Amino acid sequence: MRVLVSGGAGYIGSHTVLSLIDAGHDVLVVDDFANSKPTVLARLESLSGQSIPLHSFDLTDVDKTEHLFAHEQIDAVIHFAGFKAVGESVAKPLDYYANNLGSTFSLARAMARHGVHRLVFSSSATVYGDSAPVPYQETYEALASSSPYGWTKVMQERVLTDVAAATEGLKVGLLRYFNPVGAHPSGEIGEDPQGTPNNLMPFIAQVAVGRRDRLSIFGGDYPTADGTCERDYIHVLDLAEGHVAAVEHLETMSDPVRAFNLGTGHGTSVLQLVHAFERAIGHDLPYEIVGRRPGDLPAYWADSSRAESEMGWKATRSIDDMCADTWRWQSQNPQGYPDA
Ligand code: WQD
Repeated sequence: MRVLVSGGAGYIGSHTVLSLIDAGHDVLVVDDFANSKPTVLARLESLSGQSIPLHSFDLTDVDKTEHLFAHEQIDAVIHFAGFKAVGESVAKPLDYYANNLGSTFSLARAMARHGVHRLVFSSSATVYGDSAPVPYQETYEALASSSPYGWTKVMQERVLTDVAAATEGLKVGLLRYFNPVGAHPSGEIGEDPQGTPNNLMPFIAQVAVGRRDRLSIFGGDYPTADGTCERDYIHVLDLAEGHVAAVEHLETMSDPVRAFNLGTGHGTSVLQLVHAFERAIGHDLPYEIVGRRPGDLPAYWADSSRAESEMGWKATRSIDDMCADTWRWQSQNPQGYPDA
């Protein structure tokens, strides 16, 4: 299939581009580089040995999106493009609603006009809200109450569900990610957040490479085994392969829309991740346990049995793989991607 990857220069998008090519698909990318860098495409072309057509514009631009679909042959779309920082979304809700929903409206309209009937949407475990029983099941109501970011994911799932119900032949996969970490084993691509990392793994990696003095662990008094929060960390390549499985699965999927959890099915604590990273680098990491971060839940992880039984997908990479691959990326690219 020829697959359009929106946000294909981003962390998960770039890894998915490689996995799609590895699986024999053709790929084209649309990305406005709001949260990524053009140099990623050069690295993807070098790693894949293929040229990857790039269209650089904001998907909320309806005319440019229409022009793309009118001039490119597209069989399926994987939609990653969107703002994703929870804290930022609280400060800038209108930017988040306008960008995340607007890009999805624009994309869905162009797909309908040009008969593109396969869509995989990048959703998030955040849609389960703050009080869902663990492990999270896809049958739970999507109740995000944590942030405007979380609500944009709930709303995009709702919009795509209604569009799929109204559009003959359209099939939509809603992929709910848990905590993506790790990097391609080449060390050529990886997670490169702009500014101070919000997320745990990139912060640990920046401490390890000397860009940050120490890790602050937000809370050591949670009701968990070691007092620190537990999450379902999943290797970004497992996640990328889940997207390939999903876009291929749509062909035979009987429902017009279906949600799939993409996680490993078990939790890892902050301290466990820190110690795994110390094993990867061969020495201790400086950290201190400080106060809790508002909004954090003590522990949650996925039940991903639906993805396994229906798509034949299962995460296979370990926490040690995630740490070793992250370290290879960060040590080979101490300052992240170059600007040009
Ligand atoms: C993990 C744990 C922190 C940083 C977020 C979004 C979620 C999804 C994935 C998009 C928590 C602790 C972190 C640090 C720390 N994103 N931590 N020190 O919050 O589980 O999920 O990213 O879909 O929507 O909410 O991930 O990596 O921020 O935090 O102690 O410097 O690490 O308190 O317990 P989170 P995270």
